[in-house]
Amino acid sequence: MNSALSGLDKIEHLDIGDDELAEISMILEKRRSFSMSVYKDKCMKRRVAIRMRSSRCHDAAAYCNLLRQSERELDLLLKALTIHVSQFFRNPSMFEKLQREVFPLLYQSCGERRAPLRIWSLGCAGGEEAYSLAILLREYFPGDLRQIATNICATDIDEETLHAARKAEFNDDRLKDLPVEFCERYFDQSGSRMKLKDEIREMVTFCRGDIMAVEKFFPSDLVLCRNTLIYFTRPDQEKILNGVADILPIGGILVLGKSETLVGEVRGRFVPVCPVERIYRRI
Ligand SMILES: C[S@@+](CC[C@H](N)C(=O)[O-])C[C@H]1O[C@@H](n2cnc3c(N)ncnc32)[C@H](O)[C@@H]1O
Repeated sequence: MNSALSGLDKIEHLDIGDDELAEISMILEKRRSFSMSVYKDKCMKRRVAIRMRSSRCHDAAAYCNLLRQSERELDLLLKALTIHVSQFFRNPSMFEKLQREVFPLLYQSCGERRAPLRIWSLGCAGGEEAYSLAILLREYFPGDLRQIATNICATDIDEETLHAARKAEFNDDRLKDLPVEFCERYFDQSGSRMKLKDEIREMVTFCRGDIMAVEKFFPSDLVLCRNTLIYFTRPDQEKILNGVADILPIGGILVLGKSETLVGEVRGRFVPVCPVERIYRRI
């Protein structure tokens, strides 16, 4: 091994034992009411190792000690465990499908029933997905927006992420899939960052919500649950998907991430609309 590899560099390769993970889990549960048990152990260990490295703890026992003493480290760990990577118009072909095939039908149905259109972005990270939907509606459905109340709600477990989402200032890397004309129309430069205009910002309501209790959320016509399920164990994925099915009316639409799919018996509660884009209709 390269002798230049310091003790800290080796930490990424350190194993965190099951007992230590259980200890960390207990501390988080007690102090932040956050349950690690629903997530995949391998995922959690990798993220804890990253925090150990950043906080210069050479072993898991030292890290447990730090966690017991430091509120700040608890917050930083929670943030690392609930990874918030997102982008405007992430997987653009899915948004195109929503624009061409899904929203026209949803608005038609809402118009006939004189009902509002209710949209929910679960595991919303910095709000990129919810704001993308708001931009898409503003661009392609201005008439429907005027006639039919459209509520876009976005929830995440992490307060700090939600705070950033409400602020709506983004680094360039989050905008790389955003069409240039949308960027010019809906963002202003703010120092080195891009600030979303209020007309879009005000279309989205953010609140804290644990996806594990999704069945208690308000009913919605369109639920996006993308790139969040992958961090959960299979039984919990099934529980979450059943919860989503509970809040979708018959005909309601669910969108999953590109590497996610329906698992277990909940498959019987949906039919595919577009399997490639992971779009499903509640039956
Ligand atoms: C990778 S991001 C996905 C962002 C967005 N949906 C997308 O596809 O671009 C996953 C988000 O899920 C959130 N998350 C993790 N566990 C959660 C939970 N139990 N309840 C709600 N959100 C959770 C994380 O905080 C993070 O912001």
